[in-house]
Amino acid sequence: MNNQKILEKNTSNLPKPSTIKLKNKLIKKIILIPIISVLLLLLVYHEKIKTFSLFKKEKIYLDQYETNIFYQIKQKLIENHCSDMWANQREFLNGVIRKFLPKKILEIGVNRGGSSIIILNAIKDIKNSKLFSIDLFSDKIIGKCVKEYFPELSKKWQLFTGNIASEFMEKIGKNIDLVFIDSGHWEPGEILDFLMILPFLKENAIIIFHDIANQITVSKVRDEWAPYIIFNGIRGKKILPSGNKILTHDIGAIILENNQKKYYHDYFRLLGGQWQYFPKEIYINSLKKHFKKYYDKECLFMFNEAVVFNREFVKNNPKKAFYKINSD
Ligand SMILES: C[S@@+](CC[C@H](N)C(=O)[O-])C[C@H]1O[C@@H](n2cnc3c(N)ncnc32)[C@H](O)[C@@H]1O
Repeated sequence: MNNQKILEKNTSNLPKPSTIKLKNKLIKKIILIPIISVLLLLLVYHEKIKTFSLFKKEKIYLDQYETNIFYQIKQKLIENHCSDMWANQREFLNGVIRKFLPKKILEIGVNRGGSSIIILNAIKDIKNSKLFSIDLFSDKIIGKCVKEYFPELSKKWQLFTGNIASEFMEKIGKNIDLVFIDSGHWEPGEILDFLMILPFLKENAIIIFHDIANQITVSKVRDEWAPYIIFNGIRGKKILPSGNKILTHDIGAIILENNQKKYYHDYFRLLGGQWQYFPKEIYINSLKKHFKKYYDKECLFMFNEAVVFNREFVKNNPKKAFYKINSD
């Protein structure tokens, strides 16, 4: 066979240029089109995808989550001066509730009821959901905005006033899905609130704390340490609002880790700082009874130690003890 013939024989097995073109077209269609579509989808749903992938890294950007629900009441809430929170904090509170759809919710710290309204509005379409709210004070202002401006939301609301949480928890009962705490801010404030309610929470319950950065952002005073200490001390997944802050975000949520009992001693150790006020003796007695019932001897021992040292400190340093409301 001469060279020409060999070449013809070999090339006769190769696809013709027209078949190559067709194949290329097919490859383009089969591979490129789906890739481009996925990229386009990623672009369109970028915000949502960001939300859920950040969740894995223990941060969710939820302040834009289902805000349509929140916007139904936003204007009325602001016009009537009901809220003690900033815009993104209100949206974060709404977003966490809409994401997790809790049924049994507890709130500590009501004031005029701004946060109660946000929660009640966010659960209005959740079947069998209910909000229990507690405030230390019982004057007329507590919960006033719910009663005056949003009475239609109060069907799912029960308000307890005039005492600390330990006095109400047995009436409220166990299996709480989500808690929002925005109460005293000075130590031991929210640390005690958390210890009072912890045995009543569901496994993996969610706790939202307001004012977790007041000790650094409230420029002149810098004395509100309790929410910062307890938020950082609790074991679980921390969730923060979006934005380029981390330490200075003033609201945050925690999804509790399984089996919180193993951390009870660590939590009681958080009471060992310098208290900024000393609670009334009737509250100390109520707390002792409550802690004796729901925690072990070591926890009670730590509480008693903290009480003895801080009672003494406040007595000897009345000018250093900030808080007057709870003190005798
Ligand atoms: C900052 S206001 C709450 C504002 C409300 N969460 C809102 O955003 O509209 C704090 C409230 O906590 C209440 N408070 C303080 N210490 C408390 C405690 N140990 N237990 C329950 N309520 C407490 C105060 O009476 C006050 O009404």
